[in-house]
Amino acid sequence: MRRPIIAGNWKMYKTLKEGQDLVTILKRDLYDIEAVDIVVCPPFTLLTYIADMLEASTIGLSAQDLFWEDEGAYTGEISGKMLKDAGCSYCLIGHSERRQFFGETDETVSKKVFAALKNGLTPIVCIGENLLDREKSLTFERIKSQLDKGLQGLTKLDAEKIILAYEPVWAIGTGKVATPEQAQEVHHYIRSWLTQHYGDDTASSIRIQYGGSVKPENIAGLMAQGDIDGALVGGASLKADVFSCLVRNTLKG
Ligand code: PGA
Repeated sequence: MRRPIIAGNWKMYKTLKEGQDLVTILKRDLYDIEAVDIVVCPPFTLLTYIADMLEASTIGLSAQDLFWEDEGAYTGEISGKMLKDAGCSYCLIGHSERRQFFGETDETVSKKVFAALKNGLTPIVCIGENLLDREKSLTFERIKSQLDKGLQGLTKLDAEKIILAYEPVWAIGTGKVATPEQAQEVHHYIRSWLTQHYGDDTASSIRIQYGGSVKPENIAGLMAQGDIDGALVGGASLKADVFSCLVRNTLKG
């Protein structure tokens, strides 16, 4: 049985004070939730502060990206070693906005996955087709190629440590959520890919989140699908009451 995991990706939102206010309320409102893993992904500047706030809490901390070297002359970059030191347990990798705006490729995703694992961070690897792929019925091909390249060389043991997030690009921040059936179809495909590469036991232990316009109103329908194990949430993670409600509704699916 896979434990549901809900991660709130704050993207480039929240000053320190705003982030602290949000986490204060989440800690208060979600302290009794035991059956769901809850994670927040603040911007880099807030990580150390939020880590302190989460020390005695069950809410986990994730970064939104990392660089693959541990240290060096890489102006502007942050390493997995630094993120671990800042108190992170997870790291998003290959989010579609990084692919779209910052030149992230499946090859860089692969390097980042290894870097995260090496530093004891759980990679949350994001994959997903864009609108053109979907319209041309190339969704599975795109997903397959992202998995083939992004997880290339990953051993079974390492594969067991990752989380995948299926995020159709056309559904991110657009209000256009994939139907539970559309999402399940791709999640099932991803799990079959995992079975093919790592065997049944490993494939059925890896959690696959859905992402793209997830809200308190649609999470239960998504969670009712057999291969959907949680959500990566953008917009709906920025307000404490909305995110808390979404986490609670996860248990209704
Ligand atoms: P959204 O973002 O929930 O605002 O669509 C999801 C994501 O980008 O992870």
